Amino acid sequence: MDTSLSTASNIATDAFPINGTDYIEFYVGNAKQSAIYYQAAFGYRLVAYKGPETGSRDLVSYVLQQGKIRLVLTAALSPDHEVAKHVAKHGDGVKTLALWVDNAVESYNIALQRGAESAFEPITVEDDNGVIKMAGIKTYGTTVHTIVERSAYSGAFMPGYEARESVYPVDEVGLKYVDHCVGNVELGDMNKWVKFYQDVLGFKLLITFDDKDISTKYTALMSKVVSNGNGYIKFPINEPAKGLKKSQIEEYLDFYHGAGVQHIAVATDNIIETVTKLRNKGVDFLYVPEVYYETVLDRVGEIEEDLEELKKLNILIDRDEEGYLLQIFTKPVQDRPTVFYEIIQRKGAQSFGKGNFKALFEAIEREQALRGTL
Ligand code: FE2
Repeated sequence: MDTSLSTASNIATDAFPINGTDYIEFYVGNAKQSAIYYQAAFGYRLVAYKGPETGSRDLVSYVLQQGKIRLVLTAALSPDHEVAKHVAKHGDGVKTLALWVDNAVESYNIALQRGAESAFEPITVEDDNGVIKMAGIKTYGTTVHTIVERSAYSGAFMPGYEARESVYPVDEVGLKYVDHCVGNVELGDMNKWVKFYQDVLGFKLLITFDDKDISTKYTALMSKVVSNGNGYIKFPINEPAKGLKKSQIEEYLDFYHGAGVQHIAVATDNIIETVTKLRNKGVDFLYVPEVYYETVLDRVGEIEEDLEELKKLNILIDRDEEGYLLQIFTKPVQDRPTVFYEIIQRKGAQSFGKGNFKALFEAIEREQALRGTL
């Protein structure tokens, strides 16, 4: 593992300030049912809606929130809509990673000057609650970064949406904010996208993992993590590496039909409570063999949690120079083996669980073998 900072991108950091993740939008086949899944299984609250009743003739969107995490679930009402075509090709998946900025037009213009490709030009939308300015730039695959300026807006989400409350009795599970969002890209494309984040958005390269760091007997991948100036946005980018069998990244690319978001890591400050609740609600997690827990404390040293409890819940542990972290991974959350979630609790550690990669990828391989795609 090497850690390096790019001088050029540090200078650029101030020119592209990002306050945080504004929202994550999924294109799905049935937004109404997906919205129930996120409320029932993950404890998100419904906060806003748009659809035919609000004047949206071709799209339906449900906006869900927990802590600072905001998800938008969007489906098309006709087969020839761009959203319907996206879902037909990619399955349910992440279309937009929206970035919250102070000045959308300026940010968009800077990104374009530095080589970004436009997804859509700046627009201003307004209603009685105020004004939102937005623009879009393209990233890997068909994924888009929408740049959102919402300083003057006090409504539920944005103009065009009406406030809605859950009818479902939501029991929140303690999810706080988006820790990082990981992209899978095609073989040979990782460096191109790392350079995009460095050159266009002024991100810095945090960590590099090569295939020696992330390999099992059968499969391998490479990963680089980029982060914005204030560190609130972290995007690891994975590409497959050659192994004896099919890499999990290749499996993703096959089923998603291209590059896209692989997993979204969401933070909690009590992972035992969060995962207990999620399991009780029916969320499926990757299985970790008991043998992992026999030696884990030799590797990570003392922890505050009861190891038996972590073992019962299949929570993984890792340590770096700054502290330790607890993490667990769900199985894919749609029919295709594409997008999944990570639940993470950081206790000082700022890394990504390198010490768990082998156990994690072996767990994924067991799932791939069951699917016949290893
Ligand atoms: Fe992760």
